[in-house]
Amino acid sequence: MKEITVLDEDLINKIAAGEVIERPASVVKELIENSLDAGATRISIDIEDSGQKRIRISDNGHGMDEENARKCILPHATSKIRSVDDLFSIKTLGFRGEALASIAAVSQVSIITKQDNQLEGFNLVVESGSVISSGSVASEKGTTIDIQNLFFNTPARKKFLKTDAVELRHIIDVVTQYALLHPSVLFILHHEGRELLTSPQVDDMKNNIASLYGSTIAKDLIEVKYENELVTIYGFIGKPHQSRNDKNQQALFVNDRWIRNNDITKAVYDGYHSLLFHHKHPVFVLHITVDPHKIDVNIHPQKKEVKIEHIKEVCAAISHAVHETLKEHNLVPVLDVEFEQQKTFGAPKPVEPQKKEYMFEQSEQTIFPEKEQEQDGAHTTIVEEYTTPESDVFISEHKKEFVIPETAKLPEMKLLGQIHKTFFVAETPGGLLLIDQHVVQERVLYERFMNQFMNKNVAVQELLRGELLEFTAAEGVIVHDNSSLLHNFGFTLEEFEGTSYLLKTVPTIFGRQQSTDLVYEVLHFLSEGRNKVEEIQEDIITRMACRASVKAGDVLSIPEMQKLLAELEGCVLPYTCPHGRSIFIKVPVDELEKKFRRK
Ligand SMILES: Nc1ncnc2c1ncn2[C@@H]1O[C@H](COP(=O)(O)OP(=O)(O)OP(=O)(O)O)[C@@H](O)[C@H]1O
Ligand SMILES: [Mg+2]
Repeated sequence: MKEITVLDEDLINKIAAGEVIERPASVVKELIENSLDAGATRISIDIEDSGQKRIRISDNGHGMDEENARKCILPHATSKIRSVDDLFSIKTLGFRGEALASIAAVSQVSIITKQDNQLEGFNLVVESGSVISSGSVASEKGTTIDIQNLFFNTPARKKFLKTDAVELRHIIDVVTQYALLHPSVLFILHHEGRELLTSPQVDDMKNNIASLYGSTIAKDLIEVKYENELVTIYGFIGKPHQSRNDKNQQALFVNDRWIRNNDITKAVYDGYHSLLFHHKHPVFVLHITVDPHKIDVNIHPQKKEVKIEHIKEVCAAISHAVHETLKEHNLVPVLDVEFEQQKTFGAPKPVEPQKKEYMFEQSEQTIFPEKEQEQDGAHTTIVEEYTTPESDVFISEHKKEFVIPETAKLPEMKLLGQIHKTFFVAETPGGLLLIDQHVVQERVLYERFMNQFMNKNVAVQELLRGELLEFTAAEGVIVHDNSSLLHNFGFTLEEFEGTSYLLKTVPTIFGRQQSTDLVYEVLHFLSEGRNKVEEIQEDIITRMACRASVKAGDVLSIPEMQKLLAELEGCVLPYTCPHGRSIFIKVPVDELEKKFRRK
């Protein structure tokens, strides 16, 4: 058996630091918390190399005297609690006395701090936890902590950092959350000298949200105000139509702490019931307040989680508050009993004469002549193999086995009409074809756009006055860093002011209506941090084609259907959508005959 040894202090500190400081954004979080605890009303953050080279935070808080400044980097040194009892009525964000010690163990730190009553400030320089130099220095009241070369002595940790863009996004996220939490504090964030975010001092939560999420979002937010004996809920939630593809505009604060809590988040979603589309995420900024004795803030190394007593009841109150608020704003459809009864028991609703006409007029016509049926064996077989009335899964499993000839022609068919505003129905030799209208257009748009994109020849429509798009700070960075890529997709964005941009051109294929949405879609993909454009361009184009395509529920006339199918005919792969879902399903007449027991 190996001998047990007690680890040396340096190693202990590095291990402890690993718990608290995971990435540059953790440093930013800890330092902002310290500034807030020091009563700062102005916090400015300067970052270099996404925080890996330098993170400098200046505040105008109460500062430290020399003695405290020397102590603050020691493990377990805190001015915030004294006894175990204090742990359960903590009013400050910090309480462990670990953050600065952890940061100092894995970087080079310089602290300059001055209290109001002192003439000069004090400067302490620390490397790997040891003091290198110290002395008086001229400075303003407050504290500036300058962290350089984070993780320089823990290469393993450094290796696990994500791309610069991802690390920077985490930092922006941290600053945004604290800026949302404190409307009366001015936050300024710079990266490499470029201003990414400014959240001015305001006394009103909605104005504060506007400066961080943009005024378009803020304007439509609804106030939530609710209180019972257990919990107080206050904040703003977005209307369902404002929902996003990502969760970037969600902020949850419990007793003035920024936390993550899946139960509470789920409770908010539950409050929306069916008002949210699948995979859509509501905008919300919510403050939850409970009796401080009923929460434990000391359960997570980075203080990201808290434990709440009676969490079930608290969540029920949150769902209720969100639901009632939406209802008050007439956003929850109320079941109209009279209408329902009418639908169930009343006379059948007559079919609109015009629609009836074109949906059925052609069905009485053409039956395929025998000869034609025999001729088109080749491609009909493909469709039959591709498709089966049983299930999509079966289709995709088999799909790969077939080599689709480059000039795959569509099966011979006679369009009969549209059902459920979703599928085309056509007669085809040997059976019936069902065609998914959305998927048809998706394939058509995908191939056309891909062609233009690959040939660097995307047709664009100019928007004379441009369309104003507001981005969050994180989105602003992505737009700034990817403007030429966005241009290749047909989106020309001109800087307007702050993180607002003017959209000056859109890809013609997708048209103006769709395009604003598509810009946000593309940003969403770019934000996932995959570095290579080649890896994501296909996903982006697939997504754009999907978003821009006719949806189930759009009524199409026979000529419109024919036009779409003619376009499909020109596609290289007209049998599946870009995701691999099939476009056609064939129901062989044999099957029908069996089902009707004719055979
Ligand atoms: N910006 C600041 N202004 C004034 N005092 C500060 C500042 N930053 C740190 N301090 C002092 O240094 C001490 C140590 O800070 P540190 O962040 O390491 O621990 P903490 O905030 O007490 O607890 P936690 O580890 O939970 O953050 C604080 O208790 C506080 O007294
Ligand atoms: Mg702290």
